[in-house]
Amino acid sequence: MQKRIKEILSSGEKDYDFEIKGWVRTFRSNRFIALNDGSTNNNLQIVINTDDYDEATLKRINTGACIKASGKIIESQGKGQSVEMTDAKVEILGDSHADAYPIQPKKHSMEFLRENAHLRFRTNTFGSVFRLRNAISFGIHKFFQEQNFIYMHSPIITASDAEGAGEMFRVTTLDMKDTPMTEDGKVDYKQDFFEGETNLTVSGQLEAELAAMAFSNVYTFGPTFRAENSNTTRHLAEFWMIEPEMAFCDIHGDMDCAENMLKYVIKYAMEQHPDDIEFLTQRLVNEEKTKPQNERSELNLQEKLHFVLENDFERITYTEAIEILMQSKPYKKKKFKFEVKWGIDLQSEHERYLVEKHFKKPVIVIDYPKDIKAFYMRQNDNCEPGRETVAAMDILAPGIGEIVGGSQREERLDKLEQRMDEMDIPKEEMSWYLDTRRFGTCEHAGFGLGFERLVQFVTGMGNIRDVIPFPRTPGNCEF
Ligand code: 4AD
Ligand code: MG
Repeated sequence: MQKRIKEILSSGEKDYDFEIKGWVRTFRSNRFIALNDGSTNNNLQIVINTDDYDEATLKRINTGACIKASGKIIESQGKGQSVEMTDAKVEILGDSHADAYPIQPKKHSMEFLRENAHLRFRTNTFGSVFRLRNAISFGIHKFFQEQNFIYMHSPIITASDAEGAGEMFRVTTLDMKDTPMTEDGKVDYKQDFFEGETNLTVSGQLEAELAAMAFSNVYTFGPTFRAENSNTTRHLAEFWMIEPEMAFCDIHGDMDCAENMLKYVIKYAMEQHPDDIEFLTQRLVNEEKTKPQNERSELNLQEKLHFVLENDFERITYTEAIEILMQSKPYKKKKFKFEVKWGIDLQSEHERYLVEKHFKKPVIVIDYPKDIKAFYMRQNDNCEPGRETVAAMDILAPGIGEIVGGSQREERLDKLEQRMDEMDIPKEEMSWYLDTRRFGTCEHAGFGLGFERLVQFVTGMGNIRDVIPFPRTPGNCEF
């Protein structure tokens, strides 16, 4: 493999001939090209002898152009880099029209770059974000593989609604203009490709549970889809989720696994790309300079990540969380928009208070009310009447909110069937799931990590649309 710019700059090796290909970031004084090949935000300085080139060729060395440069790597004569290429012969591989190229060497707004998502990879911010996204993804596999988890591919098209939330994208080959109908006026899915109703998966959990009942420890890592109309900085219609599922594991083992994984992966990404973390840290510091002092964060990105690595996550029950909220200043001063009382689903403002104001670190909340959680979660024994809870856990991260959602699963067939009846979930359609409880059931637990929310946490990016190459959100499916 060809040496990349990152290696050329970091090795500091000099006095050798080299040929490099990349994209021009800037060209100044008709002599100095800043060349980037995506391996780092640091450019290789290419120095040409202006006299060797005619006017027309010089005009083609523009921001965004793809070039090949051959010359000698020497100790840099200028400041800011260890080595540079001198006496370079430049060949233009792909022109970039100066006036038409949208990504100019200046600060662009995030909105503008989102509209030009096909070109934003070529900016420093997105270079750093997507190199880190890659490292985080690899780090996740590394963590699980080192512990002998089996990577399991769960299906993308499915007939089940794992979360029972009903926010699914339908999959069909039926003709929308001439939809076949049954006699009683319903769409006749019998004539559809799969001879039944199907949708894109919202979670691979139920299938992962089936596999865990054979391999003991498995994980999925794939795209999931939710048609929830949430236009927020934390929601995507298409996002990636990591879902481990572990046999012989209870809610405490589940929390340990999630906390260890998050720490492992954050550390791994920081070790792989210290320069990118440094760049993004500085970017946020600059961004915060526009804010009043009291709104700026106490820790910068780098310090925040170190803090997370070095401290235990706080673990509290839902009931404790509600008590803390009811003792809080914003509650007493009626500053919360949503009501606080036992039984509510914690709203983002509540989660933020717990994490950012009260504990100032990641918090794991367990034992949520049964009525606000999915049917498959294990019902806790010995609950106070009227305050039935399930062995669920959510990890809340500073600046993000819920990053992980998981639970111990209901392994007792009778309890599970009873819960499905109460929630009107048709047992016949789920008999394959119930079979695991009929044949060799055991204690097991798992969780789902929202991959983009983790990437947001590591990169400090404020909007989830800026950590996935081509975001899908309500009203937007471009590229
Ligand atoms: O809490 P959720 O809905 O849990 C499940 O899907 C379970 N089946 C997981 C399991 O136990 N195996 O989603 C899990 C995580 C959330 O904590 C959040 O980080 C992320 O997925 N998430 C989203 N990320 C981006 N956009 C969305 N619309 C998301 N919805 C959930
Ligand atoms: Mg959740």
